[in-house]
Amino acid sequence: MDSLFDAEGGAENRGERLAELSRQVAVCTKCDLSLNRTNTVFGTGDPSSPLMLIGEGPGENEDASGLPFVGRAGKLLDDILAAVDLDRDMVYITNVVKCRAANREGGRMKNRPPTAAEANACDPYLQGQLEAIKPEIILCLGGPASKSIINKNFRITKDRGEWHEVYGAKTMATFHPAYVLRQHGEDLQKTKRLVWRDIQEVYKEYQKAMEKRN
Ligand code: URA
Ligand code: SF4
Repeated sequence: MDSLFDAEGGAENRGERLAELSRQVAVCTKCDLSLNRTNTVFGTGDPSSPLMLIGEGPGENEDASGLPFVGRAGKLLDDILAAVDLDRDMVYITNVVKCRAANREGGRMKNRPPTAAEANACDPYLQGQLEAIKPEIILCLGGPASKSIINKNFRITKDRGEWHEVYGAKTMATFHPAYVLRQHGEDLQKTKRLVWRDIQEVYKEYQKAMEKRN
């Protein structure tokens, strides 16, 4: 019975492993980001997809909903995916940290990047997701994901748009959609063009991976 399950239960095993990790994340107190969170944000999408997207961490809307990329940056991410006929049900989306990183400034909480210590504390969950999903292609969104996944000295402005081999996956980094939203005028057009170029490169690899499966 066990061996039959192992041979045929790939998707079920993957789902069960992710469900177990998600339960662990929901009650995790391994770093201080647990203190102010409303919800943990584990990940969404298709765990059988060849393509995994890794962002930075939940913001205000994600903390409130428990879902990744549901705010303004998420809307832009939808547009970026739609540019190559992808949608979020066709990819798996997660983040480096599963709880919101923010500082109190004046009366309100302002998002900030996770510290290296926070990213390290949360890394076993991301590693678990990578092991369960075994993506063939990884797209890192922004600096923190690129530093965690590709190389701790990664410089997004200099090193984005190039393929790296990581965890057996073709891995690229592009600008984070929230960074794109902070640009104006010429810089905005230039940044958008680069992201559009990057997503097209990623989509070529996605199509190759899907063709191999058929
Ligand atoms: N930014 C991220 O990096 N991740 C999210 O889930 C939302 C915004
Ligand atoms: Fe745990 Fe990660 Fe949340 Fe820190 S950010 S409390 S390590 S789930």
